[in-house]
Amino acid sequence: MSAVSMKKEAISAANNSDPSQEFFAIRDLHAYYGESYIVQGVNLDIKKGEILALLGRNGAGKTSTMRAIARLAEPEARAGEIWLEGQPLHTMKSYQAAQAGIQLVPEDRRIIPGMTVEENLILSQIAPNKGWSLEQIYAHFPRLAERRNQEGVTMSGGEQQMLAVARALARDVKLLLLDEPYEGLAPVIVKEIENIVYDIKERGITTIIVEQNAVAALRLSDRAVILDSGELVFSGSAKELLDNPELRNEYLAI
Ligand SMILES: Nc1ncnc2c1ncn2[C@@H]1O[C@H](COP(=O)(O)OP(=O)(O)OP(=O)(O)O)[C@@H](O)[C@H]1O
Ligand SMILES: [Mg+2]
Repeated sequence: MSAVSMKKEAISAANNSDPSQEFFAIRDLHAYYGESYIVQGVNLDIKKGEILALLGRNGAGKTSTMRAIARLAEPEARAGEIWLEGQPLHTMKSYQAAQAGIQLVPEDRRIIPGMTVEENLILSQIAPNKGWSLEQIYAHFPRLAERRNQEGVTMSGGEQQMLAVARALARDVKLLLLDEPYEGLAPVIVKEIENIVYDIKERGITTIIVEQNAVAALRLSDRAVILDSGELVFSGSAKELLDNPELRNEYLAI
């Protein structure tokens, strides 16, 4: 048996607990785009306040897994369970999952054109379960405070990423899903966003981070998993992964 298939057995053996009792748990999730079978039996447990890096090559199914957790229409989850603090997300529509505390910050950030920074934030606060106030947000994101009257889409990439995260915080988020938050950003801005994610963690918010920049994601994370062709092939600590040249070469190109 190869090291990778042994690891797969170990991953499934570790997921025998009752998922409704976990902070967040996925059990045997299968999701499709039409006939295309993409997420192929994913299992995952996350403890409250953890940061988990979800890694893997291009096309491995990272974005699809995040979309399935957020209960977007595509990919369609046809089997499996997803639980957040005893709430069965797998029975919910995306707006209900958002009310339950799931917030996805997609790669393209979705800042609304024609609206200022503050209007983008206020729109998020219309949600039934409000999160942070504008005052709290501006205290944590001084760059957004300075630019509150600027049209959101005219800001730099890093500033727009901060706004995308701040919008999630305006919505009472329990599990924050960040899809490639560092994409296209200079190292100094990456550091700033890392500090924000740490800060959020201190406030008890749990995060899944998908990143091509595996080194930066692992620096931040408590744990890591690797997806390959829609299946988990590694689950462990960031250090275990960094110390394993076989996995690094095969899946992370670092
Ligand atoms: N809307 C779609 N319809 C059909 N297939 C799709 C769709 N979106 C993604 N896929 C396919 O699903 C697979 C997984 O894609 P996904 O975007 O989840 O990968 P990823 O791990 O996020 O990759 P990347 O690192 O490039 O962002 C790919 O083969 C992709 O072509
Ligand atoms: Mg992706």
